[in-house]
Amino acid sequence: MSKRVALVTGGTGGIGTAICKQLHDDGYQVVAGYYAGGKHEKALAWQAELAKEGYDIALGFGNITDWDSCNACIENIKKDFGSVDVLVNNGGITRDTTLRKMTPEMWHEVIATNLTSVFYMTRLVINDMLEKKWGRIVNISSINGEKGQFGQANYSAAKAGMYGFAKAVAQEVASKGITVNTVSPGYIATSMIMEVPEEIRNQIKSSIPVGRFGEPQEIARVVSFLAGENAGFITGANISANGGQYMH
Ligand code: CAA
Repeated sequence: MSKRVALVTGGTGGIGTAICKQLHDDGYQVVAGYYAGGKHEKALAWQAELAKEGYDIALGFGNITDWDSCNACIENIKKDFGSVDVLVNNGGITRDTTLRKMTPEMWHEVIATNLTSVFYMTRLVINDMLEKKWGRIVNISSINGEKGQFGQANYSAAKAGMYGFAKAVAQEVASKGITVNTVSPGYIATSMIMEVPEEIRNQIKSSIPVGRFGEPQEIARVVSFLAGENAGFITGANISANGGQYMH
């Protein structure tokens, strides 16, 4: 039997890389989605670096804020490997500032990248999954979609939107062997966190009961579980992995 195909958007980023490695180890043909403003060199270097560690991961170019570009990405994957069995909607950005300073561009950029992209990609893979009567959609949301965050009205709104989307689609496809779930990481040690000013970062760290930031692998393992055969009864759910920073 040929390998199941897993697409991870934002696959070359901090959490994305850990998810790609984990799903590769789980036996999937993994495709790391990337955009990088159309610059391919960084993604190729990432791929080469992982190849040295023994990871055979394909690259899938696509601007997740653009329907046609997403469509081309999915079509290329279908040509090379077959249709997508596991979609991890992981790509996302921040444009943090208080609402009084937030521009319409900062709002739209975050909503397009973090939420509209989830509709585009899921919409583009769902019919093939329905036909196969098997599929896994895992959306990477955030603790800040659950609790809100000072300086993140755009990001918190987009991440919270993922829950409604997942729960609605989960109901539509549940009888066809497809699950749709969300993972909500807390503060994970990646470059996104390093963009937060040091003083604020230290304050955030001190509010995490386990006393540290999370590791990307700790999110990847949750994704691996939800993507697996044994998680077929879990759908429309959200799993928080935040070191106890927000319990609800
Ligand atoms: N609660 C209350 N007040 C706060 C605050 C908070 N959490 N953070 C800052 N303030 C206060 C400041 O002390 C300052 O007060 P004064 O005006 O009295 O001096 C004021 O708010 C600053 O207001 P500004 O409008 O000037 O803020 P700004 O536009 O400069 O934005 C900020 C500041 C960029 C939002 C900064 O607070 C920040 O970076 N906060 C962290 C945001 C954050 O957690 N981002 C997460 C990134 S990682 C991620 O998103 C991944 C994930 O999923 C977890």
